[in-house]
Amino acid sequence: MDTTDQTRLDEALAAIAKADADTLEAQRIAALGKAGWISAALKTLGAMTPEQRQAEGPRIQGMRAAVAEAIEARKAMLEAQALESQLAREVLDLTLPAREMPRGSVHPVSQVMDELAEIFADLGFSVATGPEIEDDWHNFTALNMAETHPARAMHDTFYFPDVDAEGRKMLLRTHTSPVQIRAMVEHGAPLRIIAPGRVYRSDSDATHTPMFHQVEGLVIDEGIHLGHLKWTLETFLKAFFERDDIVLRLRPSYFPFTEPSVEVDVGWQDVNGRRVLGGDGDAPGHGWMELLGSGMVNRRVLEFAGLDADKWQGFAFGVGVDRLAMLKYGMDDLRAFFDGDGRWLSHYGFSAFDQPTLSAGVGARA
Ligand code: DAH
Repeated sequence: MDTTDQTRLDEALAAIAKADADTLEAQRIAALGKAGWISAALKTLGAMTPEQRQAEGPRIQGMRAAVAEAIEARKAMLEAQALESQLAREVLDLTLPAREMPRGSVHPVSQVMDELAEIFADLGFSVATGPEIEDDWHNFTALNMAETHPARAMHDTFYFPDVDAEGRKMLLRTHTSPVQIRAMVEHGAPLRIIAPGRVYRSDSDATHTPMFHQVEGLVIDEGIHLGHLKWTLETFLKAFFERDDIVLRLRPSYFPFTEPSVEVDVGWQDVNGRRVLGGDGDAPGHGWMELLGSGMVNRRVLEFAGLDADKWQGFAFGVGVDRLAMLKYGMDDLRAFFDGDGRWLSHYGFSAFDQPTLSAGVGARA
């Protein structure tokens, strides 16, 4: 037995036994690396006689195996130690109370849109959407507002400087009515949709913001008449305001896309100096409030959307979502809706858990 090698082996095993991750690698290189002493010893085997090799081979291989095994064992030990101390450091006490309540809330506009979707889903309506960057064909022309129609000027439209590939003027949609056209073109008839969403007009004061929200309703089928419209709106408003005494008044009006057109007023009554919806608007101390526009879909609109106007009839309505939210939840300044003031949001906002459902009530407060 080579005593020099034996001493070296003893020293290496002793060093490995107390090495840390870095010195362990140094030990491996010193013994088993390309220029390591065991590697060098292995290289001497080639020049030996077969008899010498028979004795030296197992000896040198034995040293190599002893060092490799010791390194593996030490490595496993160090890794176990590291994991243990990491687990000890990263204690997570799941029984601690939350440091503060979550601060986000659901905006009343989102809440009301969810309420609308819930109410109309129950009546068989699905939710349709369209782009906020619209072209003037969908926003105006197909809704029976030709280029020169005076109603176009009334819309205070934000136009883009460019036209699209078909030469149509691009704009920010001024109402949700273009979704009527898109839904009819895409799905044909019969059809029952609501289309809630953002709309834009160049207008700003206490009751007007450049961006606001509308919900459009559209029903297309055979034999649809004004009675269907009135029943649908009544049913919707009773569910939305959670009152059975909602009374509607239909007044003749004009919209290019409906014929006949009706403006819908809802009766209110004075409750401690506040106007509360409900009751006959003609009764003493009561009144009427204009709420939404609607009518029977103009046959020109059906034709623009590619439907057979002799076969299909429909009604449509459009109403301001922000206005509905104000009436239901008692805010009086529209501008505050879009200020992002945390105090307003925490006062008027809803809990994410407060999902409107028809069974639990569409208006439950957080
Ligand atoms: N688009 C109209 C507006 O923004 C509202 C409206 C009126 C929509 C009558 C309708 C409707 O669908 O039938 O002023």
